Amino acid sequence: MHLRTAAARRYAVVLPLLGVLALALAGCSRDQYPQTALLPLSDFARIGDDVQDTTFYWALGVFILVEGALLYSVFRFRGKPEDPEPSQIHGNTTIEIIWTLIPALILAAIAVPTVKGIFETNRTPAGAMKIEVIGHQWWWEFRYPDAGVTTANEMFIPQGKTVELVQNSADVIHSFWPPRFAGKRDVFPGRETRLWWKADSTGLFPGQCAEYCGIQHARMAFHVRSVTPGEFDQWIAHMQSKGPKAPAAAPAGDSLKTASAGAKVQGPGQDSAAGAPQEAEYAKGEKLFMTKGCMGCHSLQAVQAPKGLIGPNLANVGARSHIAAGWLKNTDENLERWIREPQAVKKGVLMPNLGVTVEESRALRAYLRAHQ
Ligand code: CUA
Repeated sequence: MHLRTAAARRYAVVLPLLGVLALALAGCSRDQYPQTALLPLSDFARIGDDVQDTTFYWALGVFILVEGALLYSVFRFRGKPEDPEPSQIHGNTTIEIIWTLIPALILAAIAVPTVKGIFETNRTPAGAMKIEVIGHQWWWEFRYPDAGVTTANEMFIPQGKTVELVQNSADVIHSFWPPRFAGKRDVFPGRETRLWWKADSTGLFPGQCAEYCGIQHARMAFHVRSVTPGEFDQWIAHMQSKGPKAPAAAPAGDSLKTASAGAKVQGPGQDSAAGAPQEAEYAKGEKLFMTKGCMGCHSLQAVQAPKGLIGPNLANVGARSHIAAGWLKNTDENLERWIREPQAVKKGVLMPNLGVTVEESRALRAYLRAHQ
């Protein structure tokens, strides 16, 4: 009777715990963790994941054997108060050799694939497409040297083709980490580091700066947009149309459709009945962009984009999924607020509050939104 209540009490503790565990595990669905290294989407990421799996299964085996032996001994050889003292053992050379040798062999079994993986990930496959990655406080610049195209915070890559990142920093040490595609790689000022991968799938995947780099380190994110090779070529061609402004000023009316000469900027309100007020907003926004100081830090050219600018390139900002280096969804409301009070959105960010009014932020948003 007494024993039965003790067992019941034990179940009363264990069952709710199991319930909580089941609930917690139910939260581990794939969709909820887009930024996980445990669901690799590239050849590079799979090398790391394989090493991780190998290590995990070895550890699991050791855990089950050791804990199993322990539990078995605890129950099988449980002492009773009247038992005599067990015989004492001090030193047993055979056992000591065995328990030194087995871990050494297990470590060797883990070391071989680990070292192999290190060599594999350091060797860039031939024929990879180069992308320059430049870390800035607190955003990412991406340059496609073969196409002469620059963008920021959203990296386009072609699915099924190897990309090679040539990485650098404009200021402090950052770390570029696209968990679904590759491991972390630090970026340094004045030193080049490399990373590569070939994406299996298409989609939009988040990444993160993984080295503390100042107050907004945690909000120095980015996205990798993996698209089919055809879509990638289209995107490059589209970006290549965003060239520098021609020296001769375009007629006033014309500037609506060519924010920078030769640049294909989606006309404001092209597919809208309320075109006229939107065009007015756009023109007002363009003027504000030129006069409010935005130009000092941001370029709207994807082609021949100036190097060394403090702020991210905005050539296609209107089409990006996020703004403020992955921190905010690129909605009209967020974009306006970000322009109006950057210091409230990301305290310490290098973009100062420029005293932009609500009305002005609406016009600037209309102008930037047209830069697709
Ligand atoms: Cu850049 Cu942390």
